[in-house]
This record gives sequence, C-alpha cells and structure tokens, in this order.
Amino acid sequence: MTLSAVTDRLLDTLAAYPGTEDAASLTLPPEAYTDPGLYEIEKETIFKHEWLLIGRANDIPDPGDWFTFQVLDEPLLIVRGTDGEIRALSNICRHRYMPIALDEKGLAKRFVCAYHGWVYGTDGRLVAAPLMEGSLAFEKESCKLPEHRLEVWQGFIFVNLDDNTPPLAPQLHEADAMLENCLTSAPLGQIEWFS
Ligand code: FES
Repeated sequence: MTLSAVTDRLLDTLAAYPGTEDAASLTLPPEAYTDPGLYEIEKETIFKHEWLLIGRANDIPDPGDWFTFQVLDEPLLIVRGTDGEIRALSNICRHRYMPIALDEKGLAKRFVCAYHGWVYGTDGRLVAAPLMEGSLAFEKESCKLPEHRLEVWQGFIFVNLDDNTPPLAPQLHEADAMLENCLTSAPLGQIEWFS
C-alpha cells in the first residue's frame, strides 16, 4: 500500500503519542478522521477482520425476510432462510455479477436476477439458470452465492469478512450477563439507548 505524505506524517504523530508527557490530554489530530490513507489502513487491519454489527434478527423475523447491506466494498444480502437460519450471502449474481436484490429489504421465496433470470434459493443455492441447459460443462448444483460468516448475539446480527478470525460469542460472554435484562427484542432502530 502506498501511503501519502499526509498519512506518513499522521502515523508519525500517532506513534509519538505514547511517549508524550501529557498523553492523557491529547486527542486525535483532525486528519485522523479525514485522511483517506489512514482509512485504507483501518479497512485492511480492522474492518476486514472484525465482527461488524449490521442489524437485528427481529428486522427479518420470518422465513424469506431479507435486507441488503454493504460492508466495505462487499454488497451483502442478509436473509432468513426457509430453514430459519440467517445468512450473509453475496448480493452479486454468479453469472455476470449483477446485484441480485436491488431494494433495501423485502420478502422472497426465491431471488431472481434481473439480468438473465438466474434463480437463487434463500440459502444461496442456484436453483435455476435459464438458457444454460445446453451447456455440458455447467453444473448448476455446484453454483452457490458466496456466504460470509454471520453470528447472532443477543438478537444483534454481526458479520465478519474474514474466515479465520475467532468466533464472536466467546469474546462477549462477560457482556451476556450484564445485558440480558436490558435488551429487548425490538428492531435496532427502535431500541432506546440510555447514557
Ligand atoms: S447476471 Fe445474473 S443472470 Fe446473468
């Protein structure tokens, strides 16, 4: 990654913080919030490997309920399958990379790509591929939307783009006891937060 002179300077400034006499009174320089180079570093080192909160399970209570969400550059289709499981599927068709779900949310038994009509189940499996019947090399059964890691903790939906980071729930087990009487089953936008 090539960093700009601004990012280099900013990283030097931040690296000096721990040795500063009055470090407790320092705040981040303004560039820490606006510098594109630092943002790229944050994406690569933090956001591509951490569990990220994207919604509430009660936002999609019924089989077939779904919503779309973008994590970094990754368009996701969050869907509760007919088996009741919530999955984080890629929202990009395996055929010619068209977005599959075009709205913010909805209810569907199947997802039909608007471009050439490929049909996916709520678990991401390809169930129909019109005009591909004549292709001997094409195996519909081996085609599926990529699925990202997803955990539901206390009704909150988290996703992680990294297949190798530790699971979320063990990291939060101490918070379970503290929060179990505070959390409601309300959708995220309706929760009242108290400070
Ligand atoms: S791009 Fe989706 S069916 Fe062709």
